[in-house]
Amino acid sequence: MKSKEEDERNQVYRETLRPNWQKLDYDKTDRGRKMPKPLVCKQYLDGEIFDLETDIRNLSVKTLYEVVHSRRSLRKYNSGSMTKQELAYIANLTCETINFGPGYAFGVIPSGGATSSLETYFYLHDVEGFDQGIYHYMKRENKLMKLPIKVTSDLVNKAMSNQLRNAQIVVFWTATPYRTEYKYSFTAHKMIAMEAGHACQNLYLASESLDYGAVAIAAYNQELSDQLLEIGGEEFVIYIATVGRK
Ligand SMILES: Cc1cc2nc3c(=O)[nH]c(=O)nc-3n(C[C@H](O)[C@H](O)[C@H](O)COP(=O)(O)O)c2cc1C
Repeated sequence: MKSKEEDERNQVYRETLRPNWQKLDYDKTDRGRKMPKPLVCKQYLDGEIFDLETDIRNLSVKTLYEVVHSRRSLRKYNSGSMTKQELAYIANLTCETINFGPGYAFGVIPSGGATSSLETYFYLHDVEGFDQGIYHYMKRENKLMKLPIKVTSDLVNKAMSNQLRNAQIVVFWTATPYRTEYKYSFTAHKMIAMEAGHACQNLYLASESLDYGAVAIAAYNQELSDQLLEIGGEEFVIYIATVGRK
């Protein structure tokens, strides 16, 4: 039987899922107080930059109807490198940002108030033309930057609570909550989680349309994942997914 303590704790956590918008006083948000707008696009200064292939429009082998209906979470993958085009296609459909400025960004992922709290990192495990490593998706340029982070597949696997398997790529989404809190205060957190869900669904569909499989991962090791990406505090991992050959 559930303890009283557990019950009370869950009641508190549930508040995140049902924020009372009528209590949100826009004048008392940081935006209302005219605080500086947060940047919605993280920029690393130190790392090798990689262009992504652009000839990717016609890679899908299925219709949208077939993609949506044949998608399943896949946890067993075949070996064989992912091609550069396939990586570019997946990155494009999951991360592409078309228009942004201070405090807002518009792209392929819907975002509460366009506040774009997510950043995307790829662990490239087996992709043609790319060394294994952690790559940050550069929203401004639509390119990848290889971060100077020492990483091994063993460290990645531990961070993901042993769910790396032999995936060709791993996607890590991080949240920077202040970007959304700035405008929406306590109603922000539910929207951030939903935004991550939208991004992951795009990943599922993009993978399926290439006849790859994917699986969402929420049961990862928070501390090790943040350590792996050398983040924490204001920015932390919120969701992970693997993608691999069927
Ligand atoms: C938010 C979320 C978190 C999930 N976390 C994990 C996870 O940590 N590990 C895992 O193997 N599957 C995870 N999954 C995948 C689900 O188990 C899977 O979606 C579910 O069993 C339904 O199967 P389907 O995706 O094939 O429809 C997660 C799915 C969602 C939506």
